[in-house]
Amino acid sequence: MNADPCTYVIFGATGNLSRIKLMPALYHLDVANRLPIGTRILAVGRRPWDQKKWLSEVRDMVLAKSKDDFDEIIFQRFSERLQYHQGDIEQPQCYTELAELLNEKNNFPKNIAFYLSISPSDFGTVMEKLSNNHLFDEEYGWRRVIIEKPFGYDLDSAQALQKRISHYLTEEQIYRIDHYLGKGMVQNVLVFRFANVMLEPLWNRNYIDHIQITHSEELGIDSRGDYYNSAGAMRDMLQSHLLQLLTLVTMEPPASMEAESLRDEKVKVLKSIRPIPKEAVHGHAFRGQYSQGHVNGEKVKSYLQEENIPANSVTETYASMKLYIDNWRWRGVPFYMRTGKRMAKAQSTISICFRHPPLQFFRDTNVQCMNQNWVLLGIQPEECIRIEMTVKVSTRTSSLDASFRNEDEKAIDAYEDLLLDVLKGDRSLFLRFDEVEYAWRIVDPILQTWAIERDYIATYPAGSWGPEDSRLFEKSAQSWRSSLTPECK
Ligand code: BG6
Repeated sequence: MNADPCTYVIFGATGNLSRIKLMPALYHLDVANRLPIGTRILAVGRRPWDQKKWLSEVRDMVLAKSKDDFDEIIFQRFSERLQYHQGDIEQPQCYTELAELLNEKNNFPKNIAFYLSISPSDFGTVMEKLSNNHLFDEEYGWRRVIIEKPFGYDLDSAQALQKRISHYLTEEQIYRIDHYLGKGMVQNVLVFRFANVMLEPLWNRNYIDHIQITHSEELGIDSRGDYYNSAGAMRDMLQSHLLQLLTLVTMEPPASMEAESLRDEKVKVLKSIRPIPKEAVHGHAFRGQYSQGHVNGEKVKSYLQEENIPANSVTETYASMKLYIDNWRWRGVPFYMRTGKRMAKAQSTISICFRHPPLQFFRDTNVQCMNQNWVLLGIQPEECIRIEMTVKVSTRTSSLDASFRNEDEKAIDAYEDLLLDVLKGDRSLFLRFDEVEYAWRIVDPILQTWAIERDYIATYPAGSWGPEDSRLFEKSAQSWRSSLTPECK
């Protein structure tokens, strides 16, 4: 698929996501000559900046992420693509001026991708105003909109938002981004499962004891207090990124790798997840909040001491849950997922634990206390595939490594490929509305229960592995796995 030149219009261009991810990703695409010739980037922001100030801000954003491969000459070329449009997204003038600017002759390509890197509560209004100014009309080129998560606040609000935006856009114009689907190792999950015939017969309830998905971060919430306090870890990570990972690990092979086939299979998994009744929430989910502690030897604040966090907040910075998928392949296998800020280590992993083999054959030998086999998929920072097996003589667990990147190959940031997919019109790594809808159905009972329990939240010291939540596990032999190297029990 070829990418057409286009104009990227970024709303919220001076915000956190744009600084940390979008502008550096666009710069890297330019360095790699992957941005179609003529592509322009129009930043919309409230701050009263002129072009000079904007360029110096972007330079800082890019430098902060790419000290090693920063190149003045390429940055100069990149700068020529950039333009700043000052405007308040709540004011109609912002859109009339934007429309005039974009309609100027030969200044901006007529294919336009609008990137909404703004508060989710503003999505509907911004789209309405863009539509009123005819900015979604496709007379002279395509018009697409990229929406960041969370899409809605719960099931009802997601449905309301969908209803509202479908007045202005067709489903083909909407790109609901989940940047986890752009991560190299995440894309490798399907290849690993479906291109290795020896794995498929084992990938089910007959051989798998349980599966764990962990995303832990050392970072706190930085300056995102306002957003984070109203979202919490369940909405911020679990409802979106972690459930997406779960679908890739558990889905049936799709009829083809085309967007709709892939998304159909993901939806089937989400639909098969056993609903959690409200009275069972405490047996299925756990939440916690970080207190003061040490991360990498440095003392760090508690969540309640962070900027813009109310003193009585019970927003969770850690969330874990247990799910069951009631289908032929997975019935009875528990799936454990957890995520947290200010944890002991930053990592994302999928750990698949196989059942014990029948031990009788090894009675009275030193092979009696064998570890189970594990398949470990390291998503970040280490990208790896490891299979742990038991070998003789002084019985130990040995790990077979299948790293998929050469040492000198750099990982590509998840946003880079996704930004290009939008230009190509490839929606396979973007979410269809029913995926979002079913994901909300899964977490809604938990969120509703937590929303009324406002008196208490468990805490965990910053820099630890989170609160004690072992009650989630089905058996005493199951526990969180935090390492990619063999763990001896
Ligand atoms: C974002 C969340 O979607 O993902 C953040 O809003 C989180 O809170 C981030 O830190 C994690 O992404 P990554 O790519 O850094 O693992």
